[in-house]
Amino acid sequence: QGFWFVIPAAGVGSRFGAEIPKQYCKINGQTVIEHSISALLTFQPEASVLVAVAKGDHWWPSLAIASDPRVITVEGGDERADSVLNALIALQYRASYNDWVLVHDAARPCISQLSLGRLANQLAGNKVGGLLAVPVADTLKKAGDNQTVENTVDRRGLWAAQTPQMFRYGLLKQAMEQAVSAGEVITDEASAIEYSGEKSILVEGDGCNIKITRPADLSLAAYYLNRGEAE
Ligand code: CTP
Ligand code: MG
Repeated sequence: QGFWFVIPAAGVGSRFGAEIPKQYCKINGQTVIEHSISALLTFQPEASVLVAVAKGDHWWPSLAIASDPRVITVEGGDERADSVLNALIALQYRASYNDWVLVHDAARPCISQLSLGRLANQLAGNKVGGLLAVPVADTLKKAGDNQTVENTVDRRGLWAAQTPQMFRYGLLKQAMEQAVSAGEVITDEASAIEYSGEKSILVEGDGCNIKITRPADLSLAAYYLNRGEAE
């Protein structure tokens, strides 16, 4: 089976709040997005990577990785789902129905080879696909009016979704097209698969695979990346 990587990288990073989008901030001299793409290409050196970047983004073309022959640039969209769908459409004459597509946030630079291996191995024989996720550790509260506690949410059976999310190309494209045209709120690929009625598999990842969201996350990511290299 073919393996394709899709990197949604068209966000503006509003919660991060910097002048430049968070995926172009540097950790140890390399941008966040370069860390993310390098990890994927280390895992599958033969695969192609489709990167969805915002229209008018002038940071992306200046990165060395943008000229790597394995990297294909597509235009991003208004929502993450639109960015991913543009990449899936760009694959329509190259990918086969049962090829694997791994969608990975540009903003998750700490993805480990161990988690990538576990995801690919556990899903190998599956007809649909699945995602990395971790069981929720904190006690969860449902807020009512004025930030009062309404109740405690039972966390048993609750998992926090990460990326990569790995699905069969044909299923994922169909599911995303249907969900987007129905106006569904699609926050990750697995939610499109749920909407289509198919079952995704939860594959246990690790807590180090954080999504850079706020400035403090950069130091934490640097810590995880340095520790990973020392192993
Ligand atoms: N993304 C995208 N296209 C969009 C919105 C987001 O490709 N229209 C990408 C981001 O670049 C990021 C990933 O989806 O790699 C996860 O999104 P998120 O962490 O929410 O990033 P931002 O949307 O940039 O951040 P914020 O929500 O704080 O503005
Ligand atoms: Mg966002």
